[in-house]
Amino acid sequence: KKLDVVALCGSLRRASLNRQAIRLAQEVAPAHMAIEELDWRAVPVLDADELAHGFPAPVAALRTRVRAADAVLIATPEYNFSIPGGLKNVIDWLSRGEDQPLDGKPVAIVSASPGPLGGARVQYDLRKVLLFVNAMPLVKPEVFIGGAAGKFDAPTGACTDATTRDFVTRQMAAFADWIAGVQRMRGSAAA
Ligand code: FNR
Repeated sequence: KKLDVVALCGSLRRASLNRQAIRLAQEVAPAHMAIEELDWRAVPVLDADELAHGFPAPVAALRTRVRAADAVLIATPEYNFSIPGGLKNVIDWLSRGEDQPLDGKPVAIVSASPGPLGGARVQYDLRKVLLFVNAMPLVKPEVFIGGAAGKFDAPTGACTDATTRDFVTRQMAAFADWIAGVQRMRGSAAA
């Protein structure tokens, strides 16, 4: 069975550079890994009063899909040096409930920005949040795609930069190993 990875893009923008990074990850992932991007556009803003009434349908669907997956890939821009509100809201929804879907889940992080740092600052805020939900983020290789507007072909979204392609290829290979390692560790802890 292939490793089942779901991807969350921190941007809803049609021409999102981060979505293009997800497309690149899909293209260069090892043969035994499949990556499916999840659409979270319909997720409402969390009102904790509503948690008592169960999860809204788009949230319930997202929770079920993330729980079933072997791992999560997050590709996100940096908004004002931190996590885009929409993505943080999705993580907040996922963090609630008895069977918290990110608990023990391997996560890989990519960020892309037209700026030179490639959204470097969002990654450590995201890692901090992922700590609290007990996710298992891959440490290395870190992938920051700086100057991203010049690294993807505007009409097709294909990555035109060999270095970026190589980094994401290596990260996805390391991610596959990390997923297997986390699953072994959790399997033996349960045994
Ligand atoms: C940005 N952008 C941005 N870029 C960056 O490198 N650091 C930052 O702190 C911010 N802050 C920021 C805030 C807001 C509200 C917006 C809309 C944008 C620019 C951002 O990196 C750029 O728009 C990317 O193209 C967004 O990613 P997608 O949509 O292409 O995936």
